[in-house]
Amino acid sequence: MGSEKRAVYAELADQLAALVAGEPDLVANSANMAALIYHGLPEVNWAGFYFARKSELVLGPFQGKPACVRIAWGTGVCGTAAARGTAILVPDVDQFPGHIACDAASRSELVVPLVVGGRVVAVLDLDSPRRGRFDDEDRGGVERLVLVLLAHHPDWPSNPAGAPATEI
Ligand code: SME
Repeated sequence: MGSEKRAVYAELADQLAALVAGEPDLVANSANMAALIYHGLPEVNWAGFYFARKSELVLGPFQGKPACVRIAWGTGVCGTAAARGTAILVPDVDQFPGHIACDAASRSELVVPLVVGGRVVAVLDLDSPRRGRFDDEDRGGVERLVLVLLAHHPDWPSNPAGAPATEI
């Protein structure tokens, strides 16, 4: 990872750990994490969560313009990342078949699933108005942030309808 991005994500990880320390509510902590990312990373026009609910994803805490509330499991970038159980980096949303356009300004996207006990319980979605905004360094950095949140919420309720990540 480049030293500049590495430093940014290391700082965000420290800030996130401090924000969630002592607070057990996952909605409150997810909301603060979305705000931290939205304001802490440049060229991001949407940052937030979709929670796994049975066979679909439902909008959770986020920063940015109002977004689509429900995404079917396996559809769009978010639903595909949830079904695969792995992060998806989309340098150009126009090149991703089935991309769901919530904010017309979004040009690139990064979606990282939250996996607990082998099941995807949520995804974290970042959008940018610039094509190619996110790279593997961002993916690693955001995955690290997700691990900070999950380490604080090891009992995050699992989704009984979610495909076990280990079977994907
Ligand atoms: N683009 C996403 C939908 C969510 S919004 O970007 C906030 C997708 O294709 O799943």
